[in-house]
Amino acid sequence: LAYPLARHAADTSSGASPVAPEDAACTDAELRFIAEVVRAHSGIVIRENKSAMLRGRLLRRMAALGLATLRDYAALLKSPHMARELPALLNAVTTNHTAFFRERHHFDQLAEALPAMLAGPSRRLRLWSAACSSGEEAYSMAGVLVRAMGTQRSHDARILATDIDTDILRRAAAAEYTTDVLARAPADLRPLLQERPGSRAGHSLMGQALLERLRFEPLNLLEPWPFSGRFDVIFCRNVMIYFDQPTKHRLVTRFVEALQPGGLLFIGHSESLGSNYPELQLVGRTAYRRRLP
Ligand SMILES: C[S@@+](CC[C@H](N)C(=O)[O-])C[C@H]1O[C@@H](n2cnc3c(N)ncnc32)[C@H](O)[C@@H]1O
Repeated sequence: LAYPLARHAADTSSGASPVAPEDAACTDAELRFIAEVVRAHSGIVIRENKSAMLRGRLLRRMAALGLATLRDYAALLKSPHMARELPALLNAVTTNHTAFFRERHHFDQLAEALPAMLAGPSRRLRLWSAACSSGEEAYSMAGVLVRAMGTQRSHDARILATDIDTDILRRAAAAEYTTDVLARAPADLRPLLQERPGSRAGHSLMGQALLERLRFEPLNLLEPWPFSGRFDVIFCRNVMIYFDQPTKHRLVTRFVEALQPGGLLFIGHSESLGSNYPELQLVGRTAYRRRLP
């Protein structure tokens, strides 16, 4: 954690927060600079009306670094240490809200589509949770997939789950959730998660059969994607809302290219693609299919 730039690092041995409650040195210009760094590297647009939220999230990161003011933090981002700090900055500012079987109509639609996909000649199926946060979306997809596969073991069916936030990905890969979080899953779908006792009281682990289908990897959606083949199903939900229109357009264009013809793209409930993508056909609530050639 120790960057040499911690000019105002306070003594934390007393356990007191090293960050001054009011950062007099903080200027709007510094917050704007930090928001611009975030936008340039992640696509996440933080508007001025969210600057209190940005500031709160940065204060936690600054406390971990022992930096007292936003000016110090901005200086760190202007220094050669920027590349090292960037992942932690992005981890600090992401919004990770999610839930098991969130917008369940997508999982119902996936369940309907999978038998035909599994009956295809290739025996290969690739699903992608493209901003998986703490993993609930990916495990929900895995639960639906494992049920659809039943006893057929010959399929090469896998789910890739990615996110820019490396902290939240670690939690996702741990596959352990509190019973409170699990209790919010729809009662009829919850058994698909095949819960096992967790390592801590009040926690459960996701079923082994689900884990065997899943891989978690860090991926910034704005950067090149290291995939060779195409996906049959892509979930990219509740992340494009943070992006500006040109970024969203570039991303959807890349999703279209990354989808198998006939493949499905699910986006968030408040997102819409309009009629800008002739290759995509609306086939459900915020659900699209890539047209066959
Ligand atoms: C609100 S969560 C959505 C989680 C899940 N898809 C859902 O709908 O419940 C948004 C996620 O997008 C991720 N994210 C933001 N910008 C990203 C980027 N450029 N590349 C990859 N993931 C990103 C965040 O880290 C966060 O975990």
